[in-house]
Amino acid sequence: MEEKIRQLTQACSEEISAAGSENALYAVRVKYLGKNGLISDLMKGMKDLTPQQRPVMGKLVNDARSALETEFTEKGNQLHEAELAQKLAAEKIDITINKGRSVGKLHPLNAVRKRLVDFFVSMGFEVMDGPEVETDYYNFEALNVPKDHPARDMQDTFFLGGNLLLRSQTSASQVRYMEDHKPPLKMISPGRVFRNDDDATHSPVFHQLEGLVVDKGITMCDLKGILDSFAKHFFGSDTKVRFRPSYFPFTEPSVEVDVSCSMCHGKGCKICKGTGWIEILGAGIVNRKVLKICGIDPDEYTGFAFGFGIDRIANIIHSIPHIKLLYENDIRFLEQF
Ligand code: DAH
Repeated sequence: MEEKIRQLTQACSEEISAAGSENALYAVRVKYLGKNGLISDLMKGMKDLTPQQRPVMGKLVNDARSALETEFTEKGNQLHEAELAQKLAAEKIDITINKGRSVGKLHPLNAVRKRLVDFFVSMGFEVMDGPEVETDYYNFEALNVPKDHPARDMQDTFFLGGNLLLRSQTSASQVRYMEDHKPPLKMISPGRVFRNDDDATHSPVFHQLEGLVVDKGITMCDLKGILDSFAKHFFGSDTKVRFRPSYFPFTEPSVEVDVSCSMCHGKGCKICKGTGWIEILGAGIVNRKVLKICGIDPDEYTGFAFGFGIDRIANIIHSIPHIKLLYENDIRFLEQF
């Protein structure tokens, strides 16, 4: 029996050394030290021994067992470390994979807004920020749109209850600015506005830029001069500007302003719907009533105002077919700019 123990121990040792994985090692362990393993089987043979031999053999088996246990543990640790190292190497994440690919940049809408603001600032306009939650007074009444005026229908407004609303036009900022500043004054007010509109060219949230100039002797010619420079700067030096008579309660006379289509140069194409012209903004000479409401003497001063959609300018510049694209933040769209 002693010889058998020696043989089994040696065989087991050899199999331990040969085991190439933790699973293989476990199988060897079960084969020798498991409940029905070869070493445990030896114990079953004890009953055939004499009472004197039993403790001697028992000790031999136990010693062999604990020696093998140590070998299993050592080999187990070795295999575990090797397998871990292999796994780490195989599953290594290359954090440099995006290196040099996408650099953050301004959203096309912000990029266009920045260019617009820079243009007007270079012409001496001051930039003003107005509140997005406005009172009925600044958004409508002070702009010569009383409560029952049909012109309110031009802008489907989100009323918030009480006297408050989400501003439907940045024109509200004109009034606030005139209240706080004495002429001569030149200001622009870019910002978010809100209307209950939703289709390819309208979004419930969009952006406008309001402009206002008040001084002695301001006329339509000044308005046309500024808008002409603006159009040439943004749509190309051969761009023409056209005024069409229109109506806004806060300007008198009022105009709608078109620029010649930069795609077809006036010949007519899909972008300008065959007309050769693209409507870009509303403008006019500030209504005397509005000046008076803001504490400016209309006999001494005159002014012009204009307002346009920044989204619309961005869409024209980049030929973007649907306003929603500007708001969905789809990376495939944004990467094109
Ligand atoms: N507030 C007008 C709108 O949202 C645009 C506009 C028209 C602004 C004429 C003006 C203006 O300052 O004079 O439709």
